[in-house]
Amino acid sequence: EARLFPQRPLKDFHALVTAGPTHEAIDPVRYIANHSSGRQGYAIAEVLAELGACVTLVSGPTDLPVPPGVERVRVSSAQEMLAACEAALPVDIAVCVAAVGDWSVAQVADEKLKKLGGAPPSLTLKENPDILATLSKAGPLRPRLVIGFAAETNNVLAHALEKRQRKGCDWLVANGVGAGTNVFGGQRNRVTLLTGQEEESWPEMSKFDVARRLAQRISDYFSSLSI
Ligand code: CTP
Ligand code: CA
Repeated sequence: EARLFPQRPLKDFHALVTAGPTHEAIDPVRYIANHSSGRQGYAIAEVLAELGACVTLVSGPTDLPVPPGVERVRVSSAQEMLAACEAALPVDIAVCVAAVGDWSVAQVADEKLKKLGGAPPSLTLKENPDILATLSKAGPLRPRLVIGFAAETNNVLAHALEKRQRKGCDWLVANGVGAGTNVFGGQRNRVTLLTGQEEESWPEMSKFDVARRLAQRISDYFSSLSI
């Protein structure tokens, strides 16, 4: 088999990728989740491994197979995802692609909630930790390059610029997921890369091509530092 990247430009680099949704338990049989197939994150993990990086993929629940050469850690909730990410540090590169649930249920029921003919239960939610922001502010353990993703339904660029600032990540990959787009569960994606220096709109391409192009940018970034 011909190797795509014979020089393995990311050899000796450690990368952490988050992918997939999280499941926030309501009771033993129910949960709150986000739409996410995990495909974009899995593709990024796979391509970074092809480039020679040692990749830990922290994944929420998906049916996807483990990409070749990648170490996958399976988690369910946002809290577990954060713990698994912290356990993977130190890394050089972090790419947060997961659709992390923003809230979890304050009091998870030990037993299945029953309808019993009464009023529907009210759930009190609490905010989940922000994994991307935590990694971006991890002090001496901060990865050298932290990349976030932002799926927006409207005002994609404005929200993305604000999000990059607020989270403290280096790069942000923004994509529109509003009506008429078919990103969730689909094979294709159309993104804008915000690096702080520039805003680059990429044409629509497969999620694998987004992964290849992003991984190439990452490898170019590190080679530009070492010249
Ligand atoms: N993210 C994360 N942990 C969270 C929430 C989000 O790591 N608890 C990461 C996602 O993986 C993604 C980025 O932050 O890389 C942006 O996620 P998004 O949901 O768009 O950001 P939020 O701050 O949650 O904003 P919103 O209110 O638009 O959902
Ligand atoms: Ca969110």
